[in-house]
Amino acid sequence: MTNKTLVVRRPIFPDVLAELRRHATVIDSQSGTALEGKALADALAVADVLMVPATEPVDASLLSVAPKLRLVANIGVGYDNIDVPACTARGVRVTNTPGVLDDATADFAFALLLAAARRVAEGDAFVRAGTWSAGTTLAMGLDVHHRVLGIVGLGRIGRAIVQRARGFDMKVVYHNRHRLTLDEERQLGVTYAALDELLVTADFVLLQVPSSPATRHLIGAAELAKMKTTAVLVNTARGGVVDDAALAEALRKGTIAAAGLDVFENEPRVHAGLLSLRNVVLAPHAGSATLATRHAMVRRAADNVIAALTGATPPDLVNKEA
Ligand code: 8YV
Repeated sequence: MTNKTLVVRRPIFPDVLAELRRHATVIDSQSGTALEGKALADALAVADVLMVPATEPVDASLLSVAPKLRLVANIGVGYDNIDVPACTARGVRVTNTPGVLDDATADFAFALLLAAARRVAEGDAFVRAGTWSAGTTLAMGLDVHHRVLGIVGLGRIGRAIVQRARGFDMKVVYHNRHRLTLDEERQLGVTYAALDELLVTADFVLLQVPSSPATRHLIGAAELAKMKTTAVLVNTARGGVVDDAALAEALRKGTIAAAGLDVFENEPRVHAGLLSLRNVVLAPHAGSATLATRHAMVRRAADNVIAALTGATPPDLVNKEA
């Protein structure tokens, strides 16, 4: 692709933007905000390449107003925001950014696990409210060390979480579409379990599966009922993997003890039943949100764009058929 137009939907890092400008005519909002409304429509009308974060929908209606589009470069490893079959049908290639956010997301999953177990956000609110006085004891939390961590989805991020759990002397059970080989299990120090068995035995249930029709509402009322009343649920996967209404009810009734959530069914809106509870820690889909990791993600997305613009195959092509 030469003399092509790249549309950058939301602000990215200036150094990467400057490099992209050497390869294409770049349209971005220039104002530190997202391209919206008429400016977006005008940009899409001439776009050859579109760069978006993984929280931005790219659906058939968007594609229909972007007739020249040949590549969507997603800034994120998950690409459920993109209608890939619709892209493929129109010959639009899709890329993602695998590998560069595993550690940051694993760190954050553990941050949520610890915060929910040890009631960090509740304690923070308590101190700020000035209700802490000598002799006051906060309600107590749950031990993390030596407990059983159940990871649902043992891909790259799941494996990085296992490494962190080792430092806390946790026993790790996992459930995955494909069971690892016995050698891999031994090396990682993990034990395979059917989902039901994992739900019953784990003190912490951590979800790290991709979003798909098969994982929609993987955890609903029936699954929550199987968990221990002292269990903590952590979702750093995708909204929709958990039935948020059922979770709010389970947390309210004490079916499980607590939850740490980075993702929600209707982001950025959050189920009202969750907002009013104290035994849930809420984060704004921030698993990969460190300066270094977000920079690496944008860099990787740019590598895919530049490969396409210079006639090479983008390294992280998701739909080879396109
Ligand atoms: C998002 C993510 O990209 O990579 C993913 O799949 O969910 C995140 O890294 C990011 O939070 C959205 O800007």
